[in-house]
Amino acid sequence: MNRQVAICNDAIQQYIPDNHTLQHFSLHATTVPCGMVATPFKAFDPQSDRYADYVLLKKKAFSCNYRDKSILLDRLERLEELGLKSQPKFYALGSEFSAEIISTGKNVKTLSEGDRVIGNGNYPSEHPDARPGLPSNNGSKEFEVLHYSKVIKIPDTMPWDVAACFTIGAQTSYSMIRKLQIQPGDKVLVTSATSNTSLFAINALKKFNVEVYAVTTRDTFENRLLDMGVRDVFVVKPETPLIEHPKIIQNIKSSQRPFSAVIDPFFDIYFEKVVDVMGMGARYTTCGLYHQHLKMKKDYDNNLSTALAKVLLMNITIFGNCLGSTQDLQNALDDYQNGVLQVTMDETFSGDEVEAFFDRTFNSKARFGKVSFTYNQYV
Ligand SMILES: NC(=O)c1ccc[n+]([C@@H]2O[C@H](COP(=O)([O-])OP(=O)(O)OC[C@H]3O[C@@H](n4cnc5c(N)ncnc54)[C@H](OP(=O)(O)O)[C@@H]3O)[C@@H](O)[C@H]2O)c1
Repeated sequence: MNRQVAICNDAIQQYIPDNHTLQHFSLHATTVPCGMVATPFKAFDPQSDRYADYVLLKKKAFSCNYRDKSILLDRLERLEELGLKSQPKFYALGSEFSAEIISTGKNVKTLSEGDRVIGNGNYPSEHPDARPGLPSNNGSKEFEVLHYSKVIKIPDTMPWDVAACFTIGAQTSYSMIRKLQIQPGDKVLVTSATSNTSLFAINALKKFNVEVYAVTTRDTFENRLLDMGVRDVFVVKPETPLIEHPKIIQNIKSSQRPFSAVIDPFFDIYFEKVVDVMGMGARYTTCGLYHQHLKMKKDYDNNLSTALAKVLLMNITIFGNCLGSTQDLQNALDDYQNGVLQVTMDETFSGDEVEAFFDRTFNSKARFGKVSFTYNQYV
């Protein structure tokens, strides 16, 4: 049977394995039924032409990201629209995973049975037959067949739960830092500092001779961020202009518009505010937005034309960024292996802790780092 951590409807009971229960958690005022679901798995024939470039994986652990919130809310609406509440319906979540290779198609030369791998979200696609970006939106499926180019080997020293939290943050932050062409002495401002993307970026910036500054809405994590090497932390209310923050006013007194590079995971919250504090010729990169679903409302917005006028007056360069290349991910894996890159982990769940896993991942204000769910102790 193929286990998966899924959102579902209340009629799913027959697919829930022994020792597991149907549970519920709340997301953006919506009650979400969820649980471990087990379904039959179709055979993988390694000799067939169809699977020649594919590998069969057995997952050890998986994790979710901000993007999974909107996928989840969309799918939940679809499950509800699918009609008859008496018919069992479910959708497996998860956008990152760690896995062991169980079998390889006949053309696969670079991977073998027993290899330890994670997803490779290379974007744009680097192989004509493989999908661009993340290999799966159903990363919790315990068995899954994927194109060989969409997985990458991991160091022996990397635990399964850490590996299941690596792909997106590492590949994205290494790509953003590459595009910014970080120079010694740069003053790098990282917004939404406690987001997983920014925690990866802050960890990745440690190897450069730069000053890192953090913007966060959470004062509880000021010391944790300082311990990670951040020079100063600006605790903000997202609706307030950054330029009015007392510590930033202090910084501007000593040097005009202090920041030479900005890493911003939520452009619809921070773009307009950071251009006020970026120096002449500074570089800005973003990989995402807050408002990814109608239910994820925010009460404030950017004035884009005012912000773009400042961009041109200050000769600011903007880099859009989606995920990264295989080389970005390999560089991050090498840095992890050499002790240069740390992964900030929060908590690992397993067994029947599905509701607790989703709640910690999507709702907890106490979360600092990645949350994983592991199958490992049950195999
Ligand atoms: N395109 C890509 O390749 C790619 C890859 C990775 C991530 N992303 C994008 O990057 C963004 C972050 O993703 P993630 O998974 O790192 O997110 P995450 O870990 O879920 O980030 C949560 C953080 O967002 C901030 N936040 C939460 N609610 C807020 C509110 N109401 N107002 C202001 N700030 C709030 C908080 O940071 P503070 O309290 O510290 O401010 C919180 O710690 C998303 O837009 C995601 O889609 C895109």
